This record gives sequence, C-alpha cells and structure tokens, in this order.
Amino acid sequence: MNPIDNPFAPGAGSPPPELVGRDSVLEQAHILLARIKRKRPERSIIINGLRGVGKTVLAGEINRMALAEGYQTVFVEASEEKALASLICHPLRQLLFELDRLARVGNKVKRALAVLRSFIGSLKISAGDISIGLDIEPAMGTADSGDIEVDIPALFVAIAEAAEEHNTAVAIIIDEIQYLASKELGAIIMAMHQMQQRQLPLVLIATGLPTLPGLAGKSKTYSERLFSFPNVGALSEDEVCRALQEPVREAGMIFNIDALQAIYQMTQGYPYFVQEWGYQAWNRADSSPITLDVIHEITPEVGLRLDANFFRVRFDRLSNTEKTFLRAMAGLPSPRRTGQIASAMNSTLNSTTTLRANLIRKGMIFSPRYGELEFSVPLFDDFMCRAMPDTLVH
Ligand SMILES: Nc1ncnc2c1ncn2[C@@H]1O[C@H](COP(=O)(O)OP(=O)(O)OP(=O)(O)O)[C@@H](O)[C@H]1O
Ligand SMILES: [Mg+2]
Repeated sequence: MNPIDNPFAPGAGSPPPELVGRDSVLEQAHILLARIKRKRPERSIIINGLRGVGKTVLAGEINRMALAEGYQTVFVEASEEKALASLICHPLRQLLFELDRLARVGNKVKRALAVLRSFIGSLKISAGDISIGLDIEPAMGTADSGDIEVDIPALFVAIAEAAEEHNTAVAIIIDEIQYLASKELGAIIMAMHQMQQRQLPLVLIATGLPTLPGLAGKSKTYSERLFSFPNVGALSEDEVCRALQEPVREAGMIFNIDALQAIYQMTQGYPYFVQEWGYQAWNRADSSPITLDVIHEITPEVGLRLDANFFRVRFDRLSNTEKTFLRAMAGLPSPRRTGQIASAMNSTLNSTTTLRANLIRKGMIFSPRYGELEFSVPLFDDFMCRAMPDTLVH
C-alpha cells in the first residue's frame, strides 16, 4: 500500500495512530490536573516502564491535556550530560514571561523572575550557556544558596505563587527523570513537598525507567505520599489488535485475525515493536486484507530493522566487559540473581559492582528487587544472544 499514507509511527516519542491500553494513566493525569487547578491536594505522577513502551508519548499527551486545562507547561528531557538547573532555567524563564504577558497586574511574576535570576547567579551558569537576558534585579537571599535542595524548592514556590496570582497552574514535565543526579531528584521531591504543604498549583509529571520508585524512595522517604508511580508495560493481545486494526480500518482496510495474532506473538505486546510490524506490513501488502503471509514475508526484515535501530544503538554504547556481563545475563532465566551472573562470567559478586552500577546508570538494566537484575530494554536478552552467539558463558 502507498507508504505515504502509512499510519504507523515507529520512532522515539512518535504519537501512535491509536493510543491503546493507557486509559487509566491518562484518567489519573486528568484527575490530578483538574484537582490541582481547583486547589485540592493530589499526588503528582511518576510513570515508569521499560524502553519503548510509550512513556514519552504519554508525557506528550499529558502535556496537551494540561494545556487544554489552562496550565502553563514546561517539558524537558533529562540526560546524562546536563545538570537539572541548566535544563530548566530557559523554559522556566519563558513560562514566567508568558505569565507576565497574560496579565500585567500583580507582582509575583516579577518576584519569581527575580528569584530565577538569583538562582541562576548562584549556580554560576555561564551567560553563554543559557543567556538568560533577565533585565531584573536578583532577589538576594532566595534560591541562591548554591544548595540545589534548598534553591529548587524556593524557585518552584516563587513560580507557583506567580501562577496562583494569575489564576493558572503549572505542570513541569520531565522525561527520562532517572538521569537526574540523586541530589537533583531529592531537590524536586522537596519542592513537591512544599507544593503540597502550601497547596500551590504546580504539578510534576515525570517518566523514567523502572528503577524510579526505588530511587525516589531512597531519596526522600516521604516520596510515596507525594507521588504515585504507575507502571506502563506491554499491551494485551486485544490492545495490540486494536492498535493495528483501527488505523488500517480508518483507511478502509483490514488485517486478518491470524495476522494480528502472529504480530502479538512476535512483539509480545511491546508498543515500539507493534508500530514497526504495522509499518512494514502496510508497506508490503498489495491490498486488503493484510494476511498472515504478508506478516511472514516481512518478519526477517523487521527483525533486521529492529536490530539496527532499536537494539544495536544501545549495544554500541557498551564496553566489551559490559557486553560480556549482559551476554551472561541473557543466558540466564528470570529472575536473574547478581551472584549467578557474576559466576556465569567466572567473576565474583564484588568485582562486578562497578560494572553493574555503570549499566544501571546507562539505563540498560535495573534492579526490580534486591539482588536481582533485569533488562530495561524489552527482548534485549534475545538480541544479546543473536549479537554474541559464540560467547562462552559458564
Ligand atoms: N499505547 C500505545 N499504543 C500503541 N503504540 C504505542 C503506544 N505507546 C507508544 N507507542 C509507540 O511506541 C513507540 C515508542 O514510544 P515512546 O518513544 O513514547 O516510548 P518510551 O517508553 O518513551 O521509550 P524510551 O524509553 O526508549 O524513551 C512509538 O513508536 C509509539 O508510537
Ligand atoms: Mg522516551
């Protein structure tokens, strides 16, 4: 069929043609946004899930919901390289200018800008880096201690007060929040604690790998009372069928049921893979219905594309010892105990500590329970066995 009309959307953060299986998270976000706008307490949301399950898509969808509710929003993606402060300064400045533009009465926006100015001053971020361009005197003594756990809460309070004065609310959306340093995560948690205590209209929507609830808990023990941690995962068979059937039906076509079942089996319900299979099936099929034969024809090519685009990019960022560790992991059944992995590599638990920590930091693996490790990338174990078939694992 005409590739130009292909409705499927394989790719990082690309909204799918049919967003299935996420109603409860979206409903939870809807309630959160509506309640905070009405000054009722509600826990902010930290969505966690494996790679490619649709976290960024959800963050984007919630951003749209927030804008529709009349929120001012800030959407940032955390990374291994960038500090939280330099990540959020620019968008927060834009947000405050926007508030200022909306209504010129009141002085809380001016104050929040002054607080932002002093925050930036204290961080000594080079003007070139974030060229703040604030023609305003800093609010000396607020958000300028240089301790991020003090300064971020002060800054968020000033911004939320400005939003409150303008009868609006703020949603701060952070994708890949697991990349924040633990002090930064602690600072965000403390800031949200202030929001709750002062009933200020600022919510946090964050997404990250499944390490998050543990990280947040370690960071501040009261995080359970401030956040809910919905997990998003693989789709059910019925959801996969809808994700594929609805978009083609809209184009006047249909998948045969056995074709859908085959895709479900091969993707195990992981959204990224579902989009990739749908995309290739559309391009290969000559006419409706899209049959099981079409699926069989495209499967080798889809496998190659996934290896090249989804798995290989992550594999190439690993050192040789990290690869050996993951290959050893891949050869073991779940739950994979850290001790077992070490002995499969002919190594000891202690000598693999740094390796484990690095792989967790790179977002390749996470620890679902004490002493256990799992892959953050779905079906990565199969890929490791394909990529390193001959590795001798004990
Ligand atoms: N609910 C869904 N139904 C169908 N397809 C989906 C759904 N959610 C996401 N997708 C598709 O899955 C792919 C991955 O989505 P997204 O980039 O949001 O995942 P992610 O969890 O943010 O991944 P990563 O951890 O790598 O950043 C996209 O192609 C998107 O269109
Ligand atoms: Mg993402």
